[in-house]
Amino acid sequence: MAGALVVLEGVEGAGKTTQVARLVARLRAGGRTAQSCREPGGTALGDAVRALLLDPDGDVAPEAEALLFFASRAQLVARVIVPALARGEVVVLDRFFLSSYAYQIAGRGLDRDRIRDANRLAVGGVRPDVTCVLDFPVTDGLARAGRRGATDRLEGAGDAFHARVAAAFAAALTPDWQATHPETGPIVRVEATGAPDEVEGRVARAVAAHVPALGPVLGVAEHAE
Ligand SMILES: Nc1ncnc2c1ncn2[C@@H]1O[C@H](COP(=O)(O)OP(=O)(O)OP(=O)(O)O)[C@@H](O)[C@H]1O
Ligand SMILES: [Mg+2]
Repeated sequence: MAGALVVLEGVEGAGKTTQVARLVARLRAGGRTAQSCREPGGTALGDAVRALLLDPDGDVAPEAEALLFFASRAQLVARVIVPALARGEVVVLDRFFLSSYAYQIAGRGLDRDRIRDANRLAVGGVRPDVTCVLDFPVTDGLARAGRRGATDRLEGAGDAFHARVAAAFAAALTPDWQATHPETGPIVRVEATGAPDEVEGRVARAVAAHVPALGPVLGVAEHAE
């Protein structure tokens, strides 16, 4: 069986972590070996980096922030993602490099080509089979994330920052953007309003549309969507 790499993206509080867990559970119920990883994190080194990045009191220059994200990603790709795909497993990622483009380029204003080059160093030739952008209103997402507890450094970055991030996710859904960013693989919009069960079904259909081998595993009829 061929491995598959599926990414869920979207603004803060869009439901990524919720749906990553549901997708992995659904893949396992269908008989596939599947695991999830979150970014930053997913390895011991990555989890240490995560703590540095999300500390609400941390002083992190934008360039340092970007390189810390890429350090976590490089470790995750080398130690977890590449070996799992080689074993024919499914890896579901809670954020991947679309988040770097949205947060580091659009959010922080760092140079686009340099961020893309650094990302290439981190990921090598790994390309997602599909990236689902969970489309959810940014202010509602921030409110949801706020209700969950203490605000981390990125959640607290300000409304204008998060509006730029949301606009970048929207831009990534356009054919023009995807034609000029072949390294990201196909990116599809998934409506993320509604009950968790509804969103789960939409994610399953979007994944099956791009990775047909997973259709029966996910209980999605062929040619759906
Ligand atoms: N479809 C839904 N309907 C109602 N509440 C939801 C739904 N999906 C997720 N939630 C709740 O909204 C909050 C944010 O969801 P979740 O943590 O999955 O989002 P996230 O995109 O991973 O957020 P972050 O960007 O902060 O990691 C959680 O408290 C979760 O239980
Ligand atoms: Mg999350």
